[in-house]
Amino acid sequence: MLQIEEVEFAYGGSQAVAGCSFDVPDRKVTGLIGPNGAGKSTLMEIIAGGLTPSSGRIVFDGTEIQGLGRIRVARLGIIRTFQTPRELTRLPVMENLVFAAPNQIGERPLQSLFRRGRWAAQERELRLKAESLLEWVGLTKLREEPAGSLSGGQRRLLEIARAMMAEPKLLLLDEPSAGVFPAVRKLIAERIREMVERGITVLVVAHNMAFLSDVADDVVVMAQGKVLRRGTLSEVRADESVVAAYLGGGHVGGTS
Ligand SMILES: Nc1ncnc2c1ncn2[C@@H]1O[C@H](COP(=O)(O)OP(=O)(O)O)[C@@H](O)[C@H]1O
Ligand SMILES: [Mg+2]
Repeated sequence: MLQIEEVEFAYGGSQAVAGCSFDVPDRKVTGLIGPNGAGKSTLMEIIAGGLTPSSGRIVFDGTEIQGLGRIRVARLGIIRTFQTPRELTRLPVMENLVFAAPNQIGERPLQSLFRRGRWAAQERELRLKAESLLEWVGLTKLREEPAGSLSGGQRRLLEIARAMMAEPKLLLLDEPSAGVFPAVRKLIAERIREMVERGITVLVVAHNMAFLSDVADDVVVMAQGKVLRRGTLSEVRADESVVAAYLGGGHVGGTS
């Protein structure tokens, strides 16, 4: 579904992604791991269209998408969440979901003046969808609370529900289980597996081994901007070059 081919990117003089290539297969969960600074978040941003690689290609469903920009990439069905959740903290949970939908009410203010009826119908539909997603992630009771009052785990769940509002084909999740209690981590893993059953493809950055073993079909290890190894979680954990790569930047099996 997604091919990453020889992608390079530097922030000023510092090379963050250095000839990175791998495929993300359709309707699977691909885990992306590697020590801090390996280039994982940068690569996610490149796939999502927010950064343009200096060379290489990103091919999605047969179309080259590198450098298209966030909005056009999102329209193709690629949606990402961030390492640090970016919900609108003062807005209620429910509104955060409604505003996460593409072509939302108010996006074209002039048109909305003339098409009130249609917009009202669309808003009702979005609210129904938001309600069922809130139920799905267990946040129904908190629907009127400002998003900023949620716990870390609840914010992660809200992020996932927000991403689902956009009906992604490919979901990019950056550390969705970081800093979350084990019970919530389990729930997040379950929800991700359900997404895959619904036909969504997932690329997920994570460090927690229990989480990865629950969720990932296979794992790509990045180090110093490129792919070091790919395989099942147990294959890559047993690989000496992977262990060595982590010695500089953390531990295989860290807790975040
Ligand atoms: N906005 C930025 N400006 C400059 N350097 C950055 C920026 N973001 C990341 N980097 C650098 O790029 C490299 C890759 O970072 P990142 O993609 O965040 O890695 P990871 O997500 O694997 O920890 C690191 O050396 C990091 O310091
Ligand atoms: Mg990162």
